[in-house]
Amino acid sequence: MSVAKIEFNHQQTASLGFRLNLLKSNPYQDYDAFYHEVEGLVSEMTELSEHIVQQLNELHYLQQPVVLFKNVPIDDALPIFDFHDPVAAKHKLKKTFVAEGILCFIGILMKSYPFGFASINDGDLFHDVYLKDALRDSASQKSMVSIGFHYDMGFFKVRPDFANLLCLRNPSCNKVSTSFALDQAILDGLTEQEKARLSRTAFRTKTEVLALKGERTSAYMPAHPVYYPQRAAKLSFFEGRTEAIEPEEQAILDKLAELIHLHKQRFYFEPGDLLCINNNLCIHGREVIEITDLEAHKTRWLLKTYNSNDETLFEDNKGHFVSAE
Ligand SMILES: [Fe+2]
Repeated sequence: MSVAKIEFNHQQTASLGFRLNLLKSNPYQDYDAFYHEVEGLVSEMTELSEHIVQQLNELHYLQQPVVLFKNVPIDDALPIFDFHDPVAAKHKLKKTFVAEGILCFIGILMKSYPFGFASINDGDLFHDVYLKDALRDSASQKSMVSIGFHYDMGFFKVRPDFANLLCLRNPSCNKVSTSFALDQAILDGLTEQEKARLSRTAFRTKTEVLALKGERTSAYMPAHPVYYPQRAAKLSFFEGRTEAIEPEEQAILDKLAELIHLHKQRFYFEPGDLLCINNNLCIHGREVIEITDLEAHKTRWLLKTYNSNDETLFEDNKGHFVSAE
């Protein structure tokens, strides 16, 4: 599996960065105003926008479900947050919104728009992959440990079409990989009989660790299939959290996990890398391979949006928010 690459040159990075620095709206206070400002910028910067769209049009998403935008502009000032409540610290300390702007800008060009879940992370549209002490060892974006392979919001009614990750800080002394594997390669390694077994409602998944309003009442999501042959998003699975209800299906699930690791590709973020991962066509996870500087690892920072290709979603859900249930 190859990653499609679209690289900004110095002039493009500088000119777009300059314009994004001038954005007046605060996306955390008035997202609609911020979004409209970025929309205006897409129209104004016609040459750059058309150049990117032209490159996007040449991609074959089925074979290349991960797109890397290289050298995109990011903020000059990247504050360090406290680990007790990094999101509150961000709201207080982050004064420019270049990173948020580039995530919106590329989303508009890809026709895949950021959206938030009203009941998760206080409806934040820009999620920080950043250490929060209370979640440091959990399978969550706020942890500092490996996370099993999964699909973002893979068990929710509205599953993002893309998970877009922008690197702001990732100390190169540590080896932390964002890894992914193509679903089709995994499915090709299974027999028809195994796929039929995976399509039964015979599996269950532990609830995810999320900053939800209100408590979850069950430790597990409702029972579900792992393989959906009729859907665009054919697999629903979270490594280490999805299990078979009956032991005979567990061996197939274990084989699925082995196939993921056989076909996985590792990716090491550098600041200014924006990785757009198709959440319907490939599975991803975080592998913490080697930490030589723990203090630096604690300040690793990716900014992330969940994106949908379905514009009608936003007609029914004012303000780019949907219900998580
Ligand atoms: Fe994820």
